[in-house]
Amino acid sequence: MKIRIIVPLHPKLIIAVLALSLLPIQGSASELRQQIIAGFAQDAKLKNSGFAGFSAGRGQTLFLSKPATGKPDTPSCTTCHSINPAAKGQTRAGKEIAPMAVSKTPERFTDSKKVEKWFRRNCKSVLGRICTALEKGDFVTFMSNQ
Ligand code: HEC
Repeated sequence: MKIRIIVPLHPKLIIAVLALSLLPIQGSASELRQQIIAGFAQDAKLKNSGFAGFSAGRGQTLFLSKPATGKPDTPSCTTCHSINPAAKGQTRAGKEIAPMAVSKTPERFTDSKKVEKWFRRNCKSVLGRICTALEKGDFVTFMSNQ
């Protein structure tokens, strides 16, 4: 004899479960970014007990600066990312780079590995050294407000 078990799945229940399962995904981009910023804050505090929070203004200064200590063909972050954070940038090879402004590219600064990889590479190119936790936190804070 065949026994068939019919589980009553009310459409409203299905919708509720789906909605619940989607919630963490929606909230996650800014949560992940906050976690990354919190990690930089922890490091910045370790280096300097007087650390008093990140500054979007300092982040903007770093973004626009031309430190002249890096490679000649990458004098500034704006060389590739464009002077306007909301605009698309371009690699040296002419490949398009999505805007750095979080309002334009919401997935920016949400993958810690990616963030670290590009800070390391780009700070070395532009500054001739790696960026400090303070600089990284300032930069992400600035771009998060853009
Ligand atoms: C030689 C070109 C170039 C320069 C100069 C450059 N970048 Fe980038 N940057 C890139 C590319 C290419 C990517 C990866 C593509 C992407 O994320 O859209 C990237 C990605 C990043 C990311 C990762 C963003 C994310 O979505 O997590 C950070 C952080 C970053 N850059 C910071 C900087 C900072 C700070 C400077 C200046 C000190 C700088 N970049 C200068 C080309 C450059």
